[in-house]
Amino acid sequence: MTDFQEKMDGYRQRVEEALERALQFGNCPQQAVIDAMRYSLLGGGKRIRAILLLEFAGACGVSEEAAMPFAAALEMIHAYSLIHDDLPCMDDDDLRRGKPSCHVRFGEANALLAGDALLTHAFAVAASAKLPADRVLAAVSELAGAAGVLGMIGGQTLDLESEGREIDEARLIDIHRMKTGALISAGPVIGCILGGQPGRIDEAREYGLRLGLAFQIVDDILDVTGDQQILGKPIGSDRDNVKTTTVSLYGLERAGRLADDLTGQALSILKGFDFSDGFMEELTRILAKRQK
Ligand code: IPE
Ligand code: IPE
Ligand code: MG
Ligand code: MG
Ligand code: MG
Repeated sequence: MTDFQEKMDGYRQRVEEALERALQFGNCPQQAVIDAMRYSLLGGGKRIRAILLLEFAGACGVSEEAAMPFAAALEMIHAYSLIHDDLPCMDDDDLRRGKPSCHVRFGEANALLAGDALLTHAFAVAASAKLPADRVLAAVSELAGAAGVLGMIGGQTLDLESEGREIDEARLIDIHRMKTGALISAGPVIGCILGGQPGRIDEAREYGLRLGLAFQIVDDILDVTGDQQILGKPIGSDRDNVKTTTVSLYGLERAGRLADDLTGQALSILKGFDFSDGFMEELTRILAKRQK
């Protein structure tokens, strides 16, 4: 196993354990919603957002243990966004992370509530971080902004509005920046905030937004060229929903080149940060080449 893979696996395992700990609610009658939360949060997902947060926090001098509540919170918000994204009133997809989507398994009402509960609980978990209160407060505010109407929710709103309509390139890039770029850049930005390095936030955000854009472009490509078995979610969802995507707008080849360009830009921004072991560089590169 390469050093890179070993480090990835270690991160994934520790994030998984933190998520498991975060979902202990004791013995209570509302098991239906807790089961749905656990089903969608645990045992799947690449954990990219958490890992980005932990890496940037580490580079800014914060221990993994201290940053983990925010890494877990970010994954919880991401998982909620996926549960709602798959609902019949949104993308109407019945497969996620290689399993039936939350609403298929637990019904729409429980899926809706599980998403809501993951979102709200995320803030309780984040607020439990044992770091200086002013940093925790600023990071909570950043997290809320990334998830909210000027971030992920904003992008999801415009994404749905764009179905069946022609939208131009600038609007599509805006949608991608918000629906995906916001939560992906939240990791690097929150890492800097937790480390008490506000002067690095702009650069960290720029890195995250470029990486996030590349990430969504690759997601659009995989929606056409991917293998459902590997991807763990349906192929052709965007076409079925008549979405404008980077593939429908530019074609596969140009979309691929754009993802590569953005990855190159993200890599050059990364050079300004103090990452010693090459892990972040490798991570940035492989996300553009991923099959899932
Ligand atoms: C899927 O995100 C949704 C997008 C923003 C494209 P990921 O590809 O990170 O999903 P998981 O967490 O690995 O399942
Ligand atoms: C959604 O983009 C990003 C979210 C905010 C959940 P997609 O709708 O393309 O994500 P997938 O392909 O269903 O994972
Ligand atoms: Mg969607
Ligand atoms: Mg979707
Ligand atoms: Mg997609």
